[in-house]
Amino acid sequence: HAAPASLLTIFGATGDLARRMLLPSLYSLQAEQLLPANLRILGTARSELDREGFANLVSASIADRIAAAERNDAALRGLLDRLDYAAASVDDDASMAALASKVQALRDGDVLYHMSTAPKFYGPACQSLAAHGAAGAGTRVMLEKPIGKDLASAIAINDSVAMAFDEERIYRVDHYLGKEGVQNLIALRFGNALFEPLWNARHIEQVQITVGETVGVEGRGDYYDDSGALRDMLQNHLLQLLCLVAMEPPAKFDPTAVRNEKIKVLRSLRPIGREQVAHESVAGQYTAGASDGVAVPGYADELGRSSRTETFVALRAHVDNWRWSGVPFYLRTGKRLPSRSTEIYIQFRKVPYSIFGGRTASDMQPNGLLIRLQPEERIELDLMAKTPGLDRSGLRLSQVGLDLDFHEEFANARKRIAYERLYLDAIEGNGTLFVRRDETEAAWQWVDAIADGWRAAGITPRPYPAGTWGPGAAVSLTERHGHGWRE
Ligand code: BG6
Repeated sequence: HAAPASLLTIFGATGDLARRMLLPSLYSLQAEQLLPANLRILGTARSELDREGFANLVSASIADRIAAAERNDAALRGLLDRLDYAAASVDDDASMAALASKVQALRDGDVLYHMSTAPKFYGPACQSLAAHGAAGAGTRVMLEKPIGKDLASAIAINDSVAMAFDEERIYRVDHYLGKEGVQNLIALRFGNALFEPLWNARHIEQVQITVGETVGVEGRGDYYDDSGALRDMLQNHLLQLLCLVAMEPPAKFDPTAVRNEKIKVLRSLRPIGREQVAHESVAGQYTAGASDGVAVPGYADELGRSSRTETFVALRAHVDNWRWSGVPFYLRTGKRLPSRSTEIYIQFRKVPYSIFGGRTASDMQPNGLLIRLQPEERIELDLMAKTPGLDRSGLRLSQVGLDLDFHEEFANARKRIAYERLYLDAIEGNGTLFVRRDETEAAWQWVDAIADGWRAAGITPRPYPAGTWGPGAAVSLTERHGHGWRE
């Protein structure tokens, strides 16, 4: 591990992500006394602000995002005391030179940069820091997603950042890895002996990963329309979840071991290309409908023009290796779905034979493990049990759920912002929950084949009314193979 950072420099410090997530996360770390005592925080953006102006922005963001009951003046003061601000723009070399000298003046050891700007600035900003002597040993950089919009553009960004920082000093964010529930998935798999023996194709029938959102595109139309559900969500968040479900046990919970296992999964994904897309994938776009009981317009109306961008995608993926041979991984994500929910469902194989015979045989349901990450953390195990009471035909069975609600179990646990974990780790120099270059690029390669396949096969998104689980074809995708999305 690198040494803890003595300076965090945030590019895009006045932006939306900073105000909604980054600054409130730093506040929480401060309140829990998890920041190194000597850590300074330097905000930078184009806006001409002074230190006080930036401090006001930070206070406002905290007032806005942290519940009054969780705020305290001492922590706020503690955070504000660490702050500095320097206006800078990559196009203005003098401003970058000034920023670099400020960095050198403020640092008292390692420096962590965080690029929370448009990705096209990552390379130029990193190179400019290097040119001004502020990117050498003892510095590292966090990069926000999206790293590119396809393999070629991802390589270009990665190459350009690599001119200033070597790979061990680059921390690519996938904020899903910072979520408590996602880390709990790792804990569940590797902190228990119970599941591992069953975690393979002999015992698992199918895996489903759903990330549902109720929101539409929320004023991000220009970015989103260029991206779509496949690139915006599946390439990163869903594939990271898939990796954590499918990977072999890493020898250690450390950056090299964990990421070596994840990349093997990505490289084992069976390509879905032109010949397969029609069968193995479904693209959808929402039309007018209802979200949380309120009427909402369709995607094209929200955007103000017609579009071929998908706001929903479902896939049947395969991890072609010994552990998973033949097990379908159904993935789906979309905007304007009926509920905000992130869940992983593992369905085990049926009992080999039913001793109960007759009517009971048709009641028999396979066991399932549901790992729910959002909105609340919960683990449910579907078991068969005897239905209470008497029945002429003998024993009757029905499915019951063993339900572990983490919110109740850990009643004092606060709902956290993913960036709390990510900042803490990046400040401490621990890259385990960040994405390595080879992962990003392997994921793009796989996703590009699907996008190219859609284009070549002339596949355009099928309409689905807002507030439904995507086009009907997403249901046939599973039913064709005797499966069904878990309700
Ligand atoms: C982002 C996507 O990466 O993740 C957004 O760009 C999406 O489109 C968001 O809404 C979902 O994150 P979360 O944490 O709200 O599930």
